[in-house]
Amino acid sequence: MRVLSGIQPSGHLHLGNYLGALRQFVDLQDRAQCLFCVVDLHALTVRQDPAALRQSTLEVASLYLAAGIDPQRAAIFVQSHVPEHAELGWLLGCLCTFGELQRMTQFKDKAGERESVSLGLFAYPALMAADILLYRASHVPVGDDQRQHLELTRDLAARFNARHGETFPVPAALIGAVGARVMSLQNPHEKMSKSSPDPRSRVELLDTPDQVRAKIRVAVTDSEREIRHDPEHKPAVSNLLEILALASSQSLAELQEHYVGLGYGRLKQDLAEAVVALLEPLQARQRELSAAPDHLRAVLGQGAELAHALAEDTMRDVRTAMGLLTAR
Ligand code: AMP
Ligand code: TRP
Repeated sequence: MRVLSGIQPSGHLHLGNYLGALRQFVDLQDRAQCLFCVVDLHALTVRQDPAALRQSTLEVASLYLAAGIDPQRAAIFVQSHVPEHAELGWLLGCLCTFGELQRMTQFKDKAGERESVSLGLFAYPALMAADILLYRASHVPVGDDQRQHLELTRDLAARFNARHGETFPVPAALIGAVGARVMSLQNPHEKMSKSSPDPRSRVELLDTPDQVRAKIRVAVTDSEREIRHDPEHKPAVSNLLEILALASSQSLAELQEHYVGLGYGRLKQDLAEAVVALLEPLQARQRELSAAPDHLRAVLGQGAELAHALAEDTMRDVRTAMGLLTAR
């Protein structure tokens, strides 16, 4: 089993990133060969301030470590440190059709918000497929919003193999049953996201305990007072219950039973304390890491070296298979 996943350094990480992705990364490192990437080239598909991008790249890398990824067991690296990502992204872009990319819902959502759209934003899924196939990954832990991109990656792997000979395993998505789609605290019909203009919509992993409590206190709820997990009729409360289930390691059924006869106020208080407790050790480690920037740089250097060796190996096969002439 070989695992690859990535998170964009396009803002501060939030509970959705943690529960949908990062938490799974930590669990997988004992069971599989793992590579975790900070996908800075993906972040550039929308405009970024250069200094903020550099800062955010280091922050995401430090949160990988703070969440418990052990660099002795898993490679942690920055996407742009391994230039083969961009090269394979181009090659897969030549295998991928305009129509396929046009059907991507994340593209439609992001493109709909702006008046001009970069070629990079359109080609984003081909680059993501390259991230995965470059390491011949078998499994990709992601949140539910990446399901369609993973399907395209699988199609591209199969298409490549059919046209050019067996080269890539067809990778499987690993999407958790609970927490794969954490919703905004202000609008339960929208996913929690780094880019929402309302900071109360998300709990960020580096929020102070008081910020966490305040955001959860003003989270929207549903009509009726009953606390039950019913995403269709009670989307806001169901979202709070899912976060609580993961933060407190209880099942949804246990929680539902526990809250019979209790009100939303109590649920929010318990949730706030569970999230504060969940984030506390992560934040403590993050503070230590930010005091030792050389350590983080060394981890990223070592990760890039390991990733690069694997990437070179794949690219030799890919170039030959596609008919690119060797330099000598
Ligand atoms: P991104 O922030 O878009 O780079 O996403 C990084 C990872 O976090 C991906 O695996 C996403 O699927 C996951 N993710 C992002 N937002 C959420 C969310 N609201 N709920 C669950 N997973 C999420
Ligand atoms: N597209 C993913 C997101 O926005 C990030 C990503 C880029 C990724 N490359 C990847 C995730 C490779 C998994 C594997 O969330």
